[in-house]
Amino acid sequence: MSNPMHTRKNGRINVVLNHKQNKQEQTSNPLLLTEEEKEKHQILENFEKELEEYVGLGEVKRLIKEIYAWLYINRCREGHGLKTSKQVFHMIFKGNPGTGKTTVARLIAKFFHEMEVLAKGQLIEVERADLVGEYIGHTAQKTREVIKKASGGVLFIDEAYSLSRGGEKDFGKEAIDTLVKAMEDQQHDFVLILAGYSREMDYFLSLNPGLPSRFPIAIDFPNYTTDELMEMVRRMINEREYELTMESERHVKEHLKKLKLEQERTFSNGRYIRNIIEEAIRIQAVRLLRQGLYDRDSLVTIMKEDFNFDTSHVKLN
Ligand SMILES: Nc1ncnc2c1ncn2[C@@H]1O[C@H](COP(=O)(O)OP(=O)(O)O)[C@@H](O)[C@H]1O
Ligand SMILES: [Mg+2]
Repeated sequence: MSNPMHTRKNGRINVVLNHKQNKQEQTSNPLLLTEEEKEKHQILENFEKELEEYVGLGEVKRLIKEIYAWLYINRCREGHGLKTSKQVFHMIFKGNPGTGKTTVARLIAKFFHEMEVLAKGQLIEVERADLVGEYIGHTAQKTREVIKKASGGVLFIDEAYSLSRGGEKDFGKEAIDTLVKAMEDQQHDFVLILAGYSREMDYFLSLNPGLPSRFPIAIDFPNYTTDELMEMVRRMINEREYELTMESERHVKEHLKKLKLEQERTFSNGRYIRNIIEEAIRIQAVRLLRQGLYDRDSLVTIMKEDFNFDTSHVKLN
């Protein structure tokens, strides 16, 4: 196998996001070389540009390229009266909080809309409580309503494993059955993405043997590395027209290293980064008021003391 991170088992695509490896692949192996090609494949070109704004996510970038090529070639084959393969795009997203699952789902919804796979391209994000009702028949009704809303777009079920929480008697099972039925009856009408912690999702799929084969694409979202988190910090800071001092940058990096070790499973990755940046901006504002500093330099500078890393705060994220 040339790429151990990307395996095919029983026709199922299994993707593990390997950020470093794929950054290299992206640059060393571009699909669109000439201006003419770029113009012809404008949708892919634009989409790749949009994805570049995100740190890592190398395998998502590669998968999009693969799906684009597949759709394009299928259309060319259609034009020649050749057989085309059946396209099912339901997906499983596995990973810890803040690893980019919802972000990617939203981008994929938009991509499928532009590619005319989905009529509308909206993302409907739900969780167990939005699907499961309180009496017999209520769940099927609630789930059908959600599916109707997602028609023409992506239905994203977060922490989907919780639908199997209560076993056979639980109404969660009724939600799963309703979803499976809709996947058969309205096959090309919506894309279903089930998301959740890796271990729980694997267990969930093992409890529902009919499910795995209905999801041809599985993507693993590993925790970001410290370097990737720092890259996110820099981008978020710059986007907002702020700057970090060398000292504050070192301070954040040391903190992230420590936190990643302490919170292996609960660490909320990109969400945590966004929260500490937004909080630092508020703390800086209070500091500037207190110090009466309103010059340009002070307004853009985030100092070490603007980060509040005490443990009570960490637990909130
Ligand atoms: N690769 C990334 N690049 C930049 N920001 C990211 C990235 N992944 C996640 N984030 C940030 O983290 C936040 C949480 O991401 P989200 O997609 O909601 O994660 P999940 O759905 O896995 O919990 C997003 O608002 C986004 O700002
Ligand atoms: Mg999410």
